Amino acid sequence: MNSLLQRYTAGMARYVATAAEAPLLDIEELGRLAITDDISLDEIAGLHEGAALALTDQGVPINEPEIIRRMSACLSALMVSAAVAYRTKIDLLEQHRQQERDRTERDRQRLETLGQFVGSVAHELNNLLQPVRGMTEIMLADLPGKPPERADLEVVEACAIQAVGVIQGILAYVRRETIAPQSLAFGDAVATACTFIRPMLREPFEVAIRDQDTKVLALQGELTQILLNLLQNAVQAGATRMRVEVDRIDGDRAGGAGARAWMRLRVVDDGQGMSAAVAAHAFDPYFTTKATGQGTGLGLAIVRSIVVGWSGDLQLQSEPGHGTTLTLLLPVSAG
Ligand SMILES: Nc1ncnc2c1ncn2[C@@H]1O[C@H](COP(=O)(O)OP(=O)(O)OP(=O)(O)O)[C@@H](O)[C@H]1O
Ligand SMILES: [Mg+2]
Repeated sequence: MNSLLQRYTAGMARYVATAAEAPLLDIEELGRLAITDDISLDEIAGLHEGAALALTDQGVPINEPEIIRRMSACLSALMVSAAVAYRTKIDLLEQHRQQERDRTERDRQRLETLGQFVGSVAHELNNLLQPVRGMTEIMLADLPGKPPERADLEVVEACAIQAVGVIQGILAYVRRETIAPQSLAFGDAVATACTFIRPMLREPFEVAIRDQDTKVLALQGELTQILLNLLQNAVQAGATRMRVEVDRIDGDRAGGAGARAWMRLRVVDDGQGMSAAVAAHAFDPYFTTKATGQGTGLGLAIVRSIVVGWSGDLQLQSEPGHGTTLTLLLPVSAG
């Protein structure tokens, strides 16, 4: 600021003395510089007062009409150039903001298109997989005893089931934003999901529904997807006993979840459990401890994103060698 004042004072002194063009050009340059340095228009105008004082000190008769005219020319050179620079700066900033907005909008549209594309591919694949699953099932039923082909067919069926699971996960994810959750009797919905899952999982599991009718906001299809994911994880963790439990929790027993009522779904298994390090990342997208090609690592990430979309919470309790419990809490819906 001081060096600006010195430069302005020197320019003004020269112009007052000579009325030459060069000092005015220098003052214009100064106005632009001040804007680049983020000095406010008020402070820039303040320079003029400082320079006038300095000229008085130097004995310049600043009240003479011609001197007043020349000093005014300096002031307008300074302010006009500063104002133009200021306007340009604002325009550039606005242009930049507009570009940012355009880019965000383009990204959003691109993501939306990609989402629709992925959704339709997943849908198509899902349709193609249905006959694979259905026919393998029929062929398995037609194969008496345990011929070697049976093991091969079982692998085909297991892969098809796994592929359907992955695709349904993708569909659930892609559709999540567009379908609003509906009021569902939670216990009943879990029981229905379990009925669907039993033939797909081919491992037995127990179901204990302690509350049938309490309503939550959720979607039946995604609930089935969630349960299938959790039970498949349990099977893959070598569980010999698995239990699906539903109960209602009133008030703060939900572990600091506030004074509301919650529906709780637990999937308890006696599988190998998780180390603290695995548990810490189990919900991360693409985190998997399975061999390449065996798991996408999206299962729990998708489960979590669905649950969060329903204003719920997903908790994990596990210890190596002592099994795993996944707990899903959903707020009881009003009315
Ligand atoms: N019930 C469980 N018991 C032990 N470990 C589990 C259990 N559920 C999840 N995990 C651990 O968390 C990891 C992430 O699980 P997630 O379901 O997200 O992916 P994934 O099962 O590896 O892959 P995908 O679901 O695509 O088959 C698993 O690889 C496993 O290490
Ligand atoms: Mg999984």
